[in-house]
Amino acid sequence: MRGTPDVYAVIGNPVAHSKSPDIHALFAAQTGQDLLYRRLPAPPDGFAQAVRDLMREGGKGANVTVPFKLEAYALADTLTGRAKAAGAVNTLKFVDGRIMGDNTDGVGLVTDIVRNAGVSMDGKSIALLGAGGAARGVILPILEQRPKELVIANRTFAKAADLASRFAAHGNVVASTFEALQRPFDIVINATSASLSAELPPVPPLAFGAKTLAYDMMYGTEPTVFMRFAGQHGANARDGLGMLIEQAAESFFAWRGVRPDTLPAFAALRG
Ligand code: ATR
Repeated sequence: MRGTPDVYAVIGNPVAHSKSPDIHALFAAQTGQDLLYRRLPAPPDGFAQAVRDLMREGGKGANVTVPFKLEAYALADTLTGRAKAAGAVNTLKFVDGRIMGDNTDGVGLVTDIVRNAGVSMDGKSIALLGAGGAARGVILPILEQRPKELVIANRTFAKAADLASRFAAHGNVVASTFEALQRPFDIVINATSASLSAELPPVPPLAFGAKTLAYDMMYGTEPTVFMRFAGQHGANARDGLGMLIEQAAESFFAWRGVRPDTLPAFAALRG
C-alpha cells in the first residue's frame, strides 16, 4: 500500500498558466515517484507566508517563478553554488524545517542547447542579449561549457558591464552594446524580457548566420518576434520550452534523486 504522496508546488503570481504541474506529473508517473505537484498562487507581499504554509502542511519543496525568485534567494537558509552565482532561486527543498535554495534555470538552458538541440558551446562564440535576472541566471553554466567568448549585450550597457566583471574569473566574458554585434555568432540567446511584450531587442541582422542557433528563453504557441527575425536572417531558431522542461527535470532530480527522461514531455507539451 502507498502512503501519503509528498507535496510540491510552483509558487508565483500568476501561476494559473504554469506548465510545471503537467511536467512534474508526467515525470512522477514515468519514474514511479509518489508525489503531488500543485499551483500555489501568492499575493505580491505573500511569498514567505506561502512557503511557510506549504512547509506546515508537510510540503517537501517548491519551484519559484515570477516575481519571487529574488525573495526566494533571500529566504533560503542555505544556497547552492549555482544559486549564489545566479543571485536568484527557482527551486526550494525543505529538509528538517530548513530551506535549501537552488537554481536550475541555467543548467536547463545549457542541457536544452547542448543535448537536445545538439549544439556544443565548447570553443564557440556566444552572444547573450539582456542583463537582468534571466541573463544572470545562465552565465555561470554557459561559461562552464568553455565557450571561446560570451558577449553580453544590453540596452543599458552599464548592467552588461557589471555582469561581465562579476563573472570575469570564470571565463572570457565581455560586455557590449547591441549595435556592436556586427558579426555572426554561433549561438545568440535572447534573455531580455522583450518577447513578453512582443518586442524585438535591437540586435543587428549581422549577428545571425546560416550556422547560428538563435535561442529565445521565452516560448509560446507561436514563434516569438525574435525567432522570426533570426529566421529571416538565416539562423536556426529555437524557443525556450526545452529550457522549461530541463530546469524542471533538474529540480525533480534535486528533490527525488531520480532523473526523468525529458523527451516525452516535449511531445506532451507541444501537443
Ligand atoms: P528578467 O528577470 O526577465 O531578466 P529584468 O531583470 O527586468 O527581467 O530584465 C529585463 C531585461 O530585458 C533587461 O536586460 C532589459 O534591458 P535594460 O536593462 O536596458 O532595461 C531587457 N529588455 C526589456 N525589454 C527590452 C527591449 N524591448 N529591448 C531590449 N532589451 C529589453
